[in-house]
Amino acid sequence: MSVQLERNKAAKSAAGREITLEVKNLKVYYGTPTGNVRAVDDVSFHVYKGEILGLVGESGCGKTTTAMAILRMVQPPGRIVGGQILLDGTDLVVLNESALREVRWNTLALIPQGAMNSLNPVMRIHTQLAEAIETHEGRQSKDKLKQRILDLLTMVGLPSRIYDMYPHELSGGMKQRVCIAMAISLNPSLIIADEPTSALDVVVQRVVGQTLLDVKERMNVSMILIGHDMGLQAQLVDRIAVMYAGHMVEVAPVANIFDEPLHPYTQLLIESIPSIKERKPLRLTEGLTHDLRNPPPGCIFQGRCAKVMDVCRVDKPPLRLLKPEHYVACHLYE
Ligand SMILES: Nc1ncnc2c1ncn2[C@@H]1O[C@H](COP(=O)(O)OP(=O)(O)OP(=O)(O)O)[C@@H](O)[C@H]1O
Ligand SMILES: [Mg+2]
Repeated sequence: MSVQLERNKAAKSAAGREITLEVKNLKVYYGTPTGNVRAVDDVSFHVYKGEILGLVGESGCGKTTTAMAILRMVQPPGRIVGGQILLDGTDLVVLNESALREVRWNTLALIPQGAMNSLNPVMRIHTQLAEAIETHEGRQSKDKLKQRILDLLTMVGLPSRIYDMYPHELSGGMKQRVCIAMAISLNPSLIIADEPTSALDVVVQRVVGQTLLDVKERMNVSMILIGHDMGLQAQLVDRIAVMYAGHMVEVAPVANIFDEPLHPYTQLLIESIPSIKERKPLRLTEGLTHDLRNPPPGCIFQGRCAKVMDVCRVDKPPLRLLKPEHYVACHLYE
């Protein structure tokens, strides 16, 4: 049984680029004895076909929760309480389990946060890749499977000797590339990579980043790249979506985000990128992210914003299109 995705209904943007994923007003809450943690609260964004969208924001802002929601893999006590997740026009939020399984295997792929540490230590690399393929596609002829796995390793820039190795024989960067190979093994059209370069040294980060770029080019896939290294994001992604405390505060092409960040939180993120050329005092922000169980009325960033106004404490600014492809949720621009 295969899901008939309504590809012909895929939404088109104003600029005529094809949208592959559209997240609309997504809300994901974690139920706790002291109230709901609003980890993702009315988040909207889209991913164009063949692009890399960077999803950034500080720890705990809801990046992983957003990713897991797209795959409908949020674990209790978390649940999707509202919104739509349209993949090529099909709403994943209301899809039944069997149809969802098909989509997860055939269309979406996740490289989970910390994936390289969850490779099975007692299984050779080729066995793990074979298992991923055969679980989803059934038994394969031995020769074909071997060739396919070797091709996958080549695709992520790994030598064929990796085939027979165990995870502990590989460096962190190599393990992460095995995880990328696993993610692309079933020819997905959208890959979500959750902090694939964290815990790697800067040189290896770039190698893994380049691997993702190569994969994107060769397979013409779309990607959501979650991370908080703005420097790396600048080199890899086409557009950046900035989250703060469960909210989407700014979405724009990467050049706009760096040249002309509009949201005060994005400005802070850009200013805090260290530079060796121009030593400047480290910018710190006062205050903490407020309790996600009791968000204040008005803007989510009001407690830390240097430009806070009266209206910010009353009305929640919606995410609005301010210039072509540049969305921001801030009262400064009304
Ligand atoms: N099982 C849970 N129960 C209660 N709250 C949770 C649970 N899982 C996550 N949260 C909360 O949801 C919010 C979003 O978490 P999430 O893991 O999505 O953040 P993140 O942006 O991926 O952070 P990081 O950069 O550290 O990976 C956080 O405030 C977190 O504390
Ligand atoms: Mg995370």
